Amino acid sequence: MHTIILNRHQVCQGPLILINSSHPLSKHYSPDLVCLPDSSGVLMERHAAHLLSACVQAAKGTGQIVPVSGYRSHTEQQAIWDDTMSTNGVSFTEKYVAPPGCSEHQSGLAIDLGRLSSHIDFIRPDFPDEGVCGVFRSLSVNYGFIERYKDGKQSITGIAPEPWHFRYVGIPHARLMEEHGLTLEEYSDFLSRRPWRYAQESDRRAIIFYVPCFEETTAITIPDCCYQISGDNQQGFIITLWEAGE
Ligand code: DAL
Ligand code: ZN
Repeated sequence: MHTIILNRHQVCQGPLILINSSHPLSKHYSPDLVCLPDSSGVLMERHAAHLLSACVQAAKGTGQIVPVSGYRSHTEQQAIWDDTMSTNGVSFTEKYVAPPGCSEHQSGLAIDLGRLSSHIDFIRPDFPDEGVCGVFRSLSVNYGFIERYKDGKQSITGIAPEPWHFRYVGIPHARLMEEHGLTLEEYSDFLSRRPWRYAQESDRRAIIFYVPCFEETTAITIPDCCYQISGDNQQGFIITLWEAGE
């Protein structure tokens, strides 16, 4: 066993941070960005980019599935907000564009995908359930992505259905959210209602638990195994421990 000391500012870091109009991205967040292949310069957080490419390949979607919008700076999100406001008005903008400072795109963990065509709408790209796009959608949880703004969840997410917007959260978490029909808004609460949750991933099992952050530092003691820690951008940390395979 060993003990890890977490600082309060780490609540705002990691792949499970909640970002929405009530939970802005921390000003200190600075993603490690890479350019997506065949994308004319679309950027994404390094680990998320790697898994996105793997999922597109598994779906045999290379050349058919187009990365439309990945990482956006605060300035870019502001420009998109202003432009959509002047073109489409307030009601449309609030449905489909997060306020500057509150967009998942600013974390590098979100990607808008479109089906290849001669015209792709930047705000609402077509990403249907059929063909390679549908295959990508069905595989995406296995690669750590959730469809972030689902139909029927607008009252929780604050955003209209966006079947083109995928958010990287990590492999056991995407599946757990999908299995339980949860949005990212609901996930920390779900985890904190039980001491731990399990998620099976091929030959390994993940044990997931929530640790609230009450003080400037939080000490957690964990076994000597593979682990990941992410803040939730709310009040604590989500710890994922990987048991060794059989
Ligand atoms: N379209 C999503 C909500 C964004 O602007 O971040
Ligand atoms: Zn998006």
